[in-house]
Amino acid sequence: MNKAIVYYSKTGNTDMVANKFKDFDLLRITAESDDPNIKDPKLTNIPKIDSYDYIVFASPVHGFQLSRVMRSYLNQVQHLEGKLIDIFITHFFPFAWMGGDQTLKQMKKLIKSRGGEVRYKTSINWSRRNREATIDEMIKLYHE
Ligand SMILES: Cc1cc2nc3c(=O)[nH]c(=O)nc-3n(C[C@H](O)[C@H](O)[C@H](O)COP(=O)(O)O)c2cc1C
Repeated sequence: MNKAIVYYSKTGNTDMVANKFKDFDLLRITAESDDPNIKDPKLTNIPKIDSYDYIVFASPVHGFQLSRVMRSYLNQVQHLEGKLIDIFITHFFPFAWMGGDQTLKQMKKLIKSRGGEVRYKTSINWSRRNREATIDEMIKLYHE
């Protein structure tokens, strides 16, 4: 099974987590600018996912929402039917209602609009002491 993590990271946290997955291709979405205020960011690397059967999409939370770079990517990604899909997000604020829940919902909805179904979802709260344990559990859970 071909496996990829397709992710965006502005300040490196999501990138650090993505790098802990073994046997996955790391496909990083990049944009001309990482300014989170740009409404319609121009993407400079748009990962191609045709050849993958299992994809983990990952993004930071920005302003209580899914990062706009990931939103732009998911709005233009090829159809996702038949692929195994898991997601995770990284965020910093202490409560899930401060962006985490909303972001997971947005990702699920966008993935659905491209014909995909999300299996597992995980929020990684960067400010929590149990962060590493959450990451380890997720990596154990996420497999083909
Ligand atoms: C512009 C901006 C807005 C953010 N807004 C939120 C937010 O609404 N809720 C939250 O929990 N964290 C928020 N954060 C924190 C990031 O989601 C968190 O640090 C994340 O792990 C960053 O991931 P990255 O290093 O991969 O970019 C924000 C960070 C930035 C830079």
